[in-house]
Amino acid sequence: MSNAARSLWRDETHARNQDQRRADWAQSFFTIRAETERRAAPLSPEDQVVQSMPDASPTKWHRAHTTWFFEQFLLVPKLPGYKVFDERFAYLFNSYYVSAGPRHARPMRGLVTRPNADEVTAYRDHVDQAVTRLIESCDAATFETIAPIIEIGLNHEQQHQELMLTDILHAFAQNPTSPAYDREWQPLRTRSGSGEFVEIPTGIAAVGQDGDGFCFDNEQPKHRVLIEGVRIARHLVTNREWLAFMADGGYSTPTLWLSDGWTMVEAEGWTAPGYWQERDGQWHSLTLAGLKPIDPDAPVCHVSYYEADAFARWAGKQLPSETEWETAARAGLIDDAFGAVWQWTRSAYLPYPGYRAVEGALGEYNGKFMVSQMVLRGSSLATPSGHSRVSYRNFFYPPARWQFSGLRLAERG
Ligand SMILES: [Fe+2]
Repeated sequence: MSNAARSLWRDETHARNQDQRRADWAQSFFTIRAETERRAAPLSPEDQVVQSMPDASPTKWHRAHTTWFFEQFLLVPKLPGYKVFDERFAYLFNSYYVSAGPRHARPMRGLVTRPNADEVTAYRDHVDQAVTRLIESCDAATFETIAPIIEIGLNHEQQHQELMLTDILHAFAQNPTSPAYDREWQPLRTRSGSGEFVEIPTGIAAVGQDGDGFCFDNEQPKHRVLIEGVRIARHLVTNREWLAFMADGGYSTPTLWLSDGWTMVEAEGWTAPGYWQERDGQWHSLTLAGLKPIDPDAPVCHVSYYEADAFARWAGKQLPSETEWETAARAGLIDDAFGAVWQWTRSAYLPYPGYRAVEGALGEYNGKFMVSQMVLRGSSLATPSGHSRVSYRNFFYPPARWQFSGLRLAERG
């Protein structure tokens, strides 16, 4: 083949590859956007407007905010002639991007009754059509610049899909009738605890993502850590074990608790995990399927970092660090790493060595939250499929327990 022919062949192959990638992104965009609407579908317009606490957002807001994300970061800069759906929406539906302009106060999101749910649906349709048009019609060079924005926009939307469920569960928990999001919702069965601990091989381990597939910036750079003298529980802590902690005075023994944790126990009157209620001598929990008796073999859920830490102390154990967790998960040493409950670690949410946030507004995505929060690893029953990976770093403040959060233990020495 001559040089000219080889060059032509390469160009054609590249164009064909790009056509396929355009089709793949259009399909992913359609699928993930539809999943948001599927999760919202069981909820009435009244359900969708409620904000039960400042940390939880209304369903309607999640649907609009994820749409604004594509409008703000993709369509406005990349689609020539794009007309924003409504000039006022940037103020209403920007979350925390200071570089993207002023925004509505987070605790007030539940007071925004207009636009109504149908108008948000129209907003989503408007943006969906424009994104599809952009993917299909932009020139080759532009496509290479929009693909990474679509990718982070879709991963962002999947994060909000999980929050839609955690936030509506919190809203329903304020309702004395204990509504069900979906009566058919089934908790995932896990391999119930046997008390087995497995040794994580001592040595230098690599953690973090090295660029093979999508990751958020906080999962990089990949770097080395020392693992030494740690055994990790193969299983998640179960409700049965948590009931033993409660029966042994776990919530009334201040010496088990961090000082800030004990302050929360007293201030909030904690005597059991979030959403637990005692009815006729039997513990129940509000789930997405409504109020259900506690299953002793299911992993404990809706516990804060403070509770996880107190439980570990009561058990004579500790929590694993996030790098110990990742090393154990990479080695296949732990069961139910994904898809049941997020697992608290003892690690503060900090930048990895050499971390640098990306330039521009999207640099605000993760980096500016790296203080005062703790890392959770794995994923939960509410995490959308395809959104879990071994290097994923979730993070919440230590008192938070409206997420699907549980724990597994570790022991040292
Ligand atoms: Fe967001």
